[in-house]
Amino acid sequence: MSKIHAAITAVNGYVPDYILTNQELETMVDTNDEWIVSRTGIKERRILKGEGKATSDLAVPAVLGLLEKRGISADDIELIIFCTSTPDMLFPATANILADKVGAKKAWGFDLQAACSGFLFGLTTGAQFIESGKHKKVLVVGADKMSSVVNYEDRNTCILFGDGCGCVLLEPNEEGNGLIDAVLKTDGAGAPYLNIKGGGSLNPATHGTVDAGMHYAYQEGRTVFKFAVTNMADVAAEVMERNNLQADDVAWLVPHQANKRIIDATAERAGLPDEKVMVNIQKYGNTTSATIPMCLWEWEDKLKKGDNLILAAFGGGFTWGSIYLKWGYTKA
Ligand SMILES: CC(C)(COP(=O)(O)OP(=O)(O)OC[C@H]1O[C@@H](n2cnc3c(N)ncnc32)[C@H](O)[C@@H]1OP(=O)(O)O)[C@@H](O)C(=O)NCCC(=O)NCCS
Repeated sequence: MSKIHAAITAVNGYVPDYILTNQELETMVDTNDEWIVSRTGIKERRILKGEGKATSDLAVPAVLGLLEKRGISADDIELIIFCTSTPDMLFPATANILADKVGAKKAWGFDLQAACSGFLFGLTTGAQFIESGKHKKVLVVGADKMSSVVNYEDRNTCILFGDGCGCVLLEPNEEGNGLIDAVLKTDGAGAPYLNIKGGGSLNPATHGTVDAGMHYAYQEGRTVFKFAVTNMADVAAEVMERNNLQADDVAWLVPHQANKRIIDATAERAGLPDEKVMVNIQKYGNTTSATIPMCLWEWEDKLKKGDNLILAAFGGGFTWGSIYLKWGYTKA
């Protein structure tokens, strides 16, 4: 019997309507469009506005759309892996909240937190349940409402992040398409450089933690950039090398969208020209766990069954990794 691979059989996404432009940010902090575009590549990002709206509300339309596209019902989903750094609440898991909201009554699920590498860690985890034969339909969601943890008075971070969701369905494939290989890494020594210090068990929320802004995302940009630019490029090159893939064999590089300069360095190291690199950072900024599935969603029409894709990410933790997958279908 041929090996069972976990193939992506459907992809969808959702971004909220509100567009926060660089021009609007110029009215909020001491920055300018030229600086933001030249340092990051970002022109605008989406923000989920409205009282009582949470990360799960980004995922609900994305997942309902995915079910419709695949022609299955919510009851067919067996497992939900919800990759996020901005869960609706510390607990219960946002996976549970999503299951309830979309009516996935037969699914179990959990949240997976690996910052900007969350989707790659989630995809690899979800694939194990398919490859083992335990499940036939696994939903992997990457969603973040970064606007809920961004300090819009801090120009170092507020220009970078946006809100969004991307999701994929994993199903068994015996034709050799699906997840082929993954290299995933963590290094906790990176924790001081990118974090949210307040609200966890170390610094439970108090007036003091809030006054000190410890509930906001903190980033030492220059240090994170240095690690990201080398590690993301290294790990993508590593996964290509150990699978004997030359640049010509790769149809698409799907990089985490944190900074256009990091994307360019990764593509250059892999020897891939711009036309093979998915880039939408200019429209959405860094949506953390959502960037990679949102790219797959946007490029779905161009993807062909059997295409070789290299996914790569770097994020807080530090966490980073790269996945080699063969795309599962050609859209009708
Ligand atoms: C955040 C980031 C865009 C900053 O770009 P940079 O080229 O490293 O810029 P620096 O941090 O060195 O800052 C350069 C100067 O611009 C200033 N600056 C910072 N933000 C600014 C802004 N929004 N507008 C204008 N000036 C700004 C800094 O204060 C600094 O001024 P100084 O030299 O007087 O101190 C970049 O470091 C980055 O992308 N980091 C990694 C992000 C990432 O990958 N995260 C991981 C995944 S989530």
